[in-house]
Amino acid sequence: MIMITTTITTATMTIETEQHLAKLDSKLQFAADTVKEAVKFISERHEQRKVRPLGIQVKGRNDLVTEVDKGSENIISEGLKKKYPDIPFLGEEFGSRPGETLTEKPYWILDPIDGTTNFSHGFPVFSVSLALVENGQPVLALVVEIVRDEWFYAVKGKGSFLNGKPIKVEDVPFSQTLIGTGFPIADFSHLTQFQQTLGEIIQQNHGARRAGSAATDLAYTASGRFNGFFEYGLKPWDMAAGILLVREAGGIVTDYFGGNNMLETGHLVCGAPSVHRKVSEIITRHYAAFLAEKTHRI
Ligand code: IPD
Repeated sequence: MIMITTTITTATMTIETEQHLAKLDSKLQFAADTVKEAVKFISERHEQRKVRPLGIQVKGRNDLVTEVDKGSENIISEGLKKKYPDIPFLGEEFGSRPGETLTEKPYWILDPIDGTTNFSHGFPVFSVSLALVENGQPVLALVVEIVRDEWFYAVKGKGSFLNGKPIKVEDVPFSQTLIGTGFPIADFSHLTQFQQTLGEIIQQNHGARRAGSAATDLAYTASGRFNGFFEYGLKPWDMAAGILLVREAGGIVTDYFGGNNMLETGHLVCGAPSVHRKVSEIITRHYAAFLAEKTHRI
C-alpha cells in the first residue's frame, strides 16, 4: 500500500536574520518575533486552503477579508500590546483599539495580510506589513513575503535588509527598467489617466508588473527587482513599511505631486532616483488637471 503524507511547510526566519535583527534594533527584533507567529499561522492556512475553502467576507467593492487576516492581526496586536502597552496600534481589520486615539505620538500600523485577494485565490504573493510611525513618517519597517520566506526590514538611518543582507534600489537607464504598479480595484474614476501613464511607460522600458500586494511591490523596489513602483488608492497600512524600505535602500518616495503626504493621499510613486524622476514626470503630465486644482486628492 502506498502511504501518501502531506507536510505543512511554514515560513521561518533564518538564524542569520534573527542574529542580524538582534544587533540592529530591539524593538524591531521583538516585532519580528511577534510577526513570526502570525506568519506561521498564515502559511499553515495557505497550505490548508488547498484542500479546504477559505471563508471570505466582502467589506466593499473588491475589498476582501478572511478569518486569516483577522487572526493574523489579533496575534500581532496582542503581542505588541503586551510589550508596548503605551504605543497605539492601527490595524487594517480592527482599526485602533477602544480607548486609543492616534496622535503625533508613535504608533504601530499593520496590514495583517497585504494581498488578501491573492491569498484568497491561492495566488502566492502576499505579505505581512508592519511599521512604527513617528511624526507621520515610518521609522521601523518589516515586510514578510510569506511564500518565499523573505524578511525585508529597515530602521530609519540604518539601511534596508533582506534576510540579513543589505539591499539597494537599482538605478538603470529607463529603457532597462521593470516597473511595478497596482490596477485600480474600486475607484475607477481615474482609469484613463492610469491607462495613459501605464501605456507610456511600457512603450519605453522592459514592461510593468501587477503583483497584487503593494507592500511586496515596495519591498521589491527596495531590493532592485523593480526599479520603480506607482499606485493610487492605497491605504496607509499597505505602504507605511514599504516607504521606509525604499528610502533606506536609497530610493525616493513621494506622492503623485512630489509631496510627502502618501499616508494621507493614498497615492505614491517611488524608485531609484532617476526612475522616480521619470515616472513622476509621466504621472504629472497625465494628472495635470488634478495638479491645477491644487488638490492632493485624486
Ligand atoms: C491591496 C494590495 C493591492 C493594492 C490594493 C490594496 P489588501 O491591499 O496592496 O496590491 O492594489 O489597492 O488594497 O487589501 O490586500 O491589504
